[in-house]
Amino acid sequence: MSSIMSFPERGPWGKASWRGNCSGYVYKSLFEQILVGRADPVFIDPMMGSGTSVEVAREMNIRAYGLDLHQGFDVLQHSILERTGEPGDLVLSHPPYGAQIVYSGAGNVWGNEAHPNDLSRCADDEEFNTKLAFAVLNQRDATKEGGYYGVIIGDWRRQGKYTSYQAELIARMPADELAGVLIKAQHNTMSSFKKYNGKTALPFISHEYIVLLQRKLRTIIAVLGATARQAQSRLQGTWRNVVKLVLMKLGGSAPLPAIYAAVASSTDKIASNPNWQAKVRQTLQLHSEFAPKERGVWALAA
Ligand SMILES: C[S@@+](CC[C@H](N)C(=O)[O-])C[C@H]1O[C@@H](n2cnc3c(N)ncnc32)[C@H](O)[C@@H]1O
Repeated sequence: MSSIMSFPERGPWGKASWRGNCSGYVYKSLFEQILVGRADPVFIDPMMGSGTSVEVAREMNIRAYGLDLHQGFDVLQHSILERTGEPGDLVLSHPPYGAQIVYSGAGNVWGNEAHPNDLSRCADDEEFNTKLAFAVLNQRDATKEGGYYGVIIGDWRRQGKYTSYQAELIARMPADELAGVLIKAQHNTMSSFKKYNGKTALPFISHEYIVLLQRKLRTIIAVLGATARQAQSRLQGTWRNVVKLVLMKLGGSAPLPAIYAAVASSTDKIASNPNWQAKVRQTLQLHSEFAPKERGVWALAA
């Protein structure tokens, strides 16, 4: 299997009419690589939509569980593992891409009422990213040690804003469980034909991602610790880069008040951090690329 997939046909599985459905050949290819050869493998899809994945799995004699909000299973409220009664070798979901396609409610894909936990009904990207990360932790919980869990998801550009849901998800999951990111060509999507404000300056999005993680044996507290350390180290790295850029623009060295003023005007990071001046001093002291030149004056180290 290459890390790039392209299947123009969706095949006989699931329903072509289910908006945002996925080609069955994508699942077939993933199952051949990940599940075939394992002893009595189990596949779980907690957002199965029209059931494409589950139909492919059963045709390949793979035991499969399909769940979805439209038949009463809510990945934000219910344990996947409790519902299936056994963990999966592969627990793969194909969630909504933000609110690109709205699923529940009259005139949408299913039901007459808008469901409050429908992932396609989040108020904004932050709510969606947080809920999706929870859903994927739920999937992880239902994965055998050494098994795989993950999502099929695309990016979204609207009104000049580009959101990469896969990047947000990867940042929220334990980095040492990330096993692979595949690219899947998207065929005949409605957005392929859309123009944004009459302009086509940037290419249309014609791909999606398959993000795969591999479950290690550890507690959920250890997962939390690992992801908190990742976030902390990213934030520290950003401060370090901001201070370095500021010193570079100030000619390589500057007194602290000038560094504060330049940081204040170059980043909105300080808006959320009342102790930002202490953070700047800590950054200067912590990293060897900064050196004190004289009292109250800092420079880029030679
Ligand atoms: C992109 S569709 C899946 C399409 C599927 N792969 C197919 O080929 O038909 C996303 C699905 O996520 C489901 N969903 C949204 N929120 C959910 C939730 N909280 N719990 C479970 N399923 C949810 C929707 O009902 C929808 O069927």
